[in-house]
Order: sequence, then structure tokens, then C-alpha cells
Amino acid sequence: MAIQKVGVAGCGLMGSGIAQVCAMAGFTTLVREVNHDLVEKGIKGIEKNLGRLVEKGTITEAAKGEIRGRLKGTIGIEELRDCDLIIEAIIEQLSAKRELFAALDGLCPAATIFASNTSSLTITEIATATKRPQRFVGLHFFNPVPVMKLVEVVKTIATDPAVYEEMVAFGAKLGKTPVRAHDSTGFIVNRLLVPYLLDAIRALEEGVGSVEDIDSSMKLGCGHPMGPLALLDFVGLDTTYYIANIMFEEFRERRFAPPSLLKRMVLAGWNGRKAGRGFYDYADAREPKAMKF
Ligand code: CAA
Repeated sequence: MAIQKVGVAGCGLMGSGIAQVCAMAGFTTLVREVNHDLVEKGIKGIEKNLGRLVEKGTITEAAKGEIRGRLKGTIGIEELRDCDLIIEAIIEQLSAKRELFAALDGLCPAATIFASNTSSLTITEIATATKRPQRFVGLHFFNPVPVMKLVEVVKTIATDPAVYEEMVAFGAKLGKTPVRAHDSTGFIVNRLLVPYLLDAIRALEEGVGSVEDIDSSMKLGCGHPMGPLALLDFVGLDTTYYIANIMFEEFRERRFAPPSLLKRMVLAGWNGRKAGRGFYDYADAREPKAMKF
């Protein structure tokens, strides 16, 4: 079955990025949020991104119009029923995801493929909320979705190999490089990234270096686009804390255990860029100032 219409559940940071790349790749795209304000906010963000691409000359004004024409927002879950593929990018909470997929399973024909953008939950456990675990995969995108070139395509023990290959091909059609991963907690990227980010916090706790020096070291010494502490602020400290806890519970290895500074910053609400404060203070967003610990 050729994928023509893609449904995206969730129009937050990840969902709106996924919807944008689907529409840009030529798919008719329907993105669903729970209320009109969230739909409007998500679509406005996409329009702003497309506008920036026109300004830079990456796409023409006409192409922007075509992309926008392929993209629609909705609050009605039942409108997703005629999509060939539905990608979920809602809150990272197992019960919410299972509930959504159980409802979609009742609405959609048996052929519809379901995918979750979860970064840390087990795809198998989400898939069993439906009667189609053989047509269920993980499609894990990276923030900012329009920029990051990777998508992890995650296969469970129940995924039909033909569906899986179709999803690998779909990832490539989006202009991403798809990598194949098994349904192991954190897949490939977070298996490697999370211990690295947590180690950077431990290095800070132990006084190995300051916030600036830890970040400069990895940027200038290893060619990373962002240092680990700036990346933690970018991903969100609450999100990282949540993922680390799930990974620690799964693997029982110290490298996944959240350091106490991370826990305390989350408890204080210092969740990074979106909160205005994390390892940096974003009072002046153009010139974040490193915090002293
Ligand atoms: N949406 C769309 N485009 C964006 C964007 C956004 N939110 N943010 C930046 N861009 C674009 C810019 O327009 C610019 O495009 P051009 O090169 O065509 O002009 C390009 O990205 C570079 O942006 P900037 O020059 O403003 O800034 P930069 O060079 O510092 O790049 C960055 C910003 C792309 C975010 C870069 O710092 C980076 O790659 N950081 C690492 C990001 C990362 O590691 N993400 C993965 C996080 S882990 C995750 O998402 C998964 C998980 O499960 C936790």
C-alpha cells in the first residue's frame, strides 16, 4: 500500500515538526491536537518555519503555498480515520498513548499503519493497546525535526517485516536517513546520548569544569554543534529526567541514573530553555548566561 495521507497526533514541538516534513515531502497531512488553540499555535509555528525557508531561498513562495495546501489541522480524532499512516507525538505518557491508539484502532481500517515517536517508552507495550501490533512501529525523530537528518525506525518482535520495510522507505521519502533499531529502551540514540548528558552533569557536580568550560570542551574539542549542558537545556531537563528514570528502571545501570543536581533542578522548575532557566539563564534569549553551581 502506498502511503498518501499521513495523520499526525499531537502538534507540539515534535508533532508540528513531523507534520511540516510530511507536508514538505508531498504527503497530504492532517495534524490533530486536543483544542483549537493548540492546533493554531502548532500550525502558526509551521507557517513561520516555511516563511523562513522562503526568505532564505530554500523554497519558493509558490512551494510554500503548495505545502500549506497539503497541511490541515483538526481537533477531531475521527478525521484521522482515512489516513494511511498515523504518527503519534503526544505527551510522553504510556497510558495516554495507549488510550489514543486504542481509539484510533477502533476508527481506522485494518490496513492503516500506526507509529509512535516515543523516545523512551517500549513500542511493544504501546502497540498492544491495539489489535494490529504487526502494523505498528516506532518512528523516532529528533529536535528540531525539520533540521535533524535522522529517523530511528523501530521494529518490535511483532512488526510485519513488509510494514517495517515500508516505514524505512517512508523515512527516506521524508528526506531523512532512516536507521534500523530494535525495540530496546532508548533505541540507539538515547542509549548513547543519555549517559553522555548525565555524565556532563556529574562532571559539573564534581567540579571538573564550569558550565561554559564543559560545553566549550565538547563543542571545540569534539566538533559537537552544542555542548552537553546547552543540549540538556534544549531537550528539556524534565524530559531528560523522565527518560533517564525509564532507562534506569529498565537497565538498572548507574550510567542511566539521574544525578541529584538534575533532580533538584527539575524540582525547582529549572527545566531549560522553555522555562527560561536551566544550566543557562535565558532572560536574554540571544545571549544566554551560564549559571554558577
Ligand atoms: N526549526 C526549523 N529550523 C531550525 C530550527 C527549528 N526549531 N532551529 C534552527 N533551525 C535551522 C536554522 O534556520 C538554520 O537553517 P540554515 O542553515 O538553512 O540557515 C539551521 O537550522 C541552523 O540554525 P542556527 O544557525 O540558528 O543555529 P545553529 O547552527 O546553532 O543550529 C541546531 C541549531 C540545529 C539546533 C544545532 O545547534 C544542533 O544541531 N544542535 C543539536 C541538536 C540535537 O542534538 N538534537 C537532538 C536532541 S535529542 C532528541 O531530540 C531526541 C530525544 O529523544 C531526546
